[in-house]
Amino acid sequence: MSIISLSEVQEMVRSTAREFTNNEIKPVASINDREHRYPKDLIEKMGELGFMGTNVSEQYGGSSLDYLSYILALEEICKGCASTGTIMSVNNSLVCSPIKTFGSEDQKRLFLNDLASGGKLGCFMLSEPDSGSDAASMKTTAVLNGDHYLLNGTKSWITNGAEADIAIVFATTDKSLKHKGVSAFIVDMKTPGLKIGKLEDKLGIRATSTAQIFFEDCKISAKNLLGNEGEGFKIALHTLDGGRIGIAAQAVGIAQAALEESVRYAKERRAFGKTISDFQGLQFMIADMATRVEASRLLVWQAAVMKDRYMKFGKQSAMAKLYAAETAMWVTTKAIQIHGGYGYTTDYPVERYFRDAKITEIYEGTSEIQRIVIARETLEEIE
Ligand code: CAA
Repeated sequence: MSIISLSEVQEMVRSTAREFTNNEIKPVASINDREHRYPKDLIEKMGELGFMGTNVSEQYGGSSLDYLSYILALEEICKGCASTGTIMSVNNSLVCSPIKTFGSEDQKRLFLNDLASGGKLGCFMLSEPDSGSDAASMKTTAVLNGDHYLLNGTKSWITNGAEADIAIVFATTDKSLKHKGVSAFIVDMKTPGLKIGKLEDKLGIRATSTAQIFFEDCKISAKNLLGNEGEGFKIALHTLDGGRIGIAAQAVGIAQAALEESVRYAKERRAFGKTISDFQGLQFMIADMATRVEASRLLVWQAAVMKDRYMKFGKQSAMAKLYAAETAMWVTTKAIQIHGGYGYTTDYPVERYFRDAKITEIYEGTSEIQRIVIARETLEEIE
């Protein structure tokens, strides 16, 4: 573990999340994955523990914790089940966070209490069938008509889409202005005109839903505009800067779990008269896995601390996500190799870790998008 000292509160958050993961999440993670089962009871309990609105102030029903505490809890949850961690991270970083940062007093009072307590669940609707990385090219429109907007269009890849109660929806209020014409809305998922479409059958994070959502003349009160008209793209990117630290923490959790399983297995499995952990070839694998996990965690903590200190942290968040996601893929691949044929079966959790790791290189900005963000800033910083 790192020598960076954590406060008493941060240590307590981490140990609470670790205990919850060991007692409640780990025993059901593999069955939830196999059966594509949304972990409703776990999410409710995580609400009671304060993990669904970690950074929301107590005034609005949250836990008033700093970002590093959220990251510590998320890593622990993802060690047990990346799906459960994804649900937690979308609610915290992509839904509570923009309402907390850009919402009016009324919006905070109206939406945050339920979301932060786990009573309601949120989702984030940015991507569309034809716009993922190029988020500004979205086609969903919002047209002002008196005291309401009419939303029309299709959103894709919406995590929590099947279970969510509240959505942050991005739509263009003026296509000619490109990204400056994008606006953000807080939408009740039960609003007439909003329909849940196809649910994706995915490689990993199978205990989460990923839905397509249709808007057909969906009438949203103008009071639910988040921020001002035209501020939506900045709200999305600002929100994703924070969200990416969460996904990086998720990747660290998956990689740490794979490392721990590999060490345990290597100490038990015997070949050629000794345990396989006695072979230097395998020890070198473990050494590289441990080093990359530790380096990833340090990047994640750095980004979280910078966010807590109100420093500019977009580049560090992108670096943490890029490195941790690629580490999670690399470490989980090695974990299967160490387990041999057993690692390729569902008898051991490492195949699930491997499948779950892949999404961390894709959602909330692909590894290529993170490289764009890092390169742009680095080229600007160095003369
Ligand atoms: N925060 C706030 N504003 C920002 C910003 C940031 N981090 N980065 C850029 N901006 C602003 C710029 O200042 C600029 O504003 P002005 O025109 O007023 O100066 C504006 O945004 C446009 O900036 P760019 O010209 O840099 O925009 P771009 O079109 O080149 O795109 C990008 C930049 C980094 C590629 C961005 O589009 C991006 O991050 N794309 C990836 C989208 C993404 O991560 N999608 C994930 C979907 S969410 C998800 O996965 C959901 C889920 O369910 C888990």
